[in-house]
Amino acid sequence: MMKEKVVVSVGGSILIPGNGDSEYIMKLAEMISEISPDVQLVVVCGGGKIARYYTVTGGELGGTTYQLDMLGIGVTRLNAQLLAISLGDLSSTDIPLSAEDASKRSSHDNVIVMGGTVPGHTTDAVAAMVAREMRAERIVNATSVEAVYSDDPRRNPDAERFSRMTIDELKTIVYTEHGAGKSSVFDPLGIKIAKEEGIDILIVNGRDISELRNAILGREIKGTYVSSR
Ligand code: UTP
Repeated sequence: MMKEKVVVSVGGSILIPGNGDSEYIMKLAEMISEISPDVQLVVVCGGGKIARYYTVTGGELGGTTYQLDMLGIGVTRLNAQLLAISLGDLSSTDIPLSAEDASKRSSHDNVIVMGGTVPGHTTDAVAAMVAREMRAERIVNATSVEAVYSDDPRRNPDAERFSRMTIDELKTIVYTEHGAGKSSVFDPLGIKIAKEEGIDILIVNGRDISELRNAILGREIKGTYVSSR
């Protein structure tokens, strides 16, 4: 039987919220190991606050955008290696450096873990590029919010919470958010690729392991289902 192919983008703030959080990574790895017989998985890791530390410090030291992106990529790859270590024999710490290589190396009996690829985008976009290469059924964005809202729910109690939306609706929200200078729920380039390829995006709270598991397996979620078709 053909396994469903799923690409997961795990925000760095989920993986490394503080200094040393092996407990969460261990639980994540346990869940991934448990479901790996049922799904062909690629997990793309973000950089989180450690990446931010490097890019801010590098900027203060006069780094170019290219150099700062390379610092960010370095951290995403370190985070990926932490998750790969915790997956043991199921994964390799010799992580793929491109979407093409990730897709080529992804198979039924392994889990590919990786970070960023080249300057100019984020790991959400990398997840979408890998999903395009391997013709994945869906992209799961494991983030620090519960769902997509019409506005920041901490500031606006009337913000609407979406359980389902179209990719064009997500695009509108992301562009509005960017205008306000906030970090986005999913990279605009990633949205563009998912729309072109007709790949759905599930946005879930990545700290909630059972929610993340449901999203990967295509089951009912509490987060937001973004339909691309
Ligand atoms: P992230 O994917 O973690 O960026 O990559 P982000 O979305 O800004 O971080 P979160 O989700 O809010 O935590 C960290 C940085 O690494 C560079 C970019 O500078 C990015 O902001 N990067 C990452 C690349 O240039 N290319 C890649 O393929 C990945």
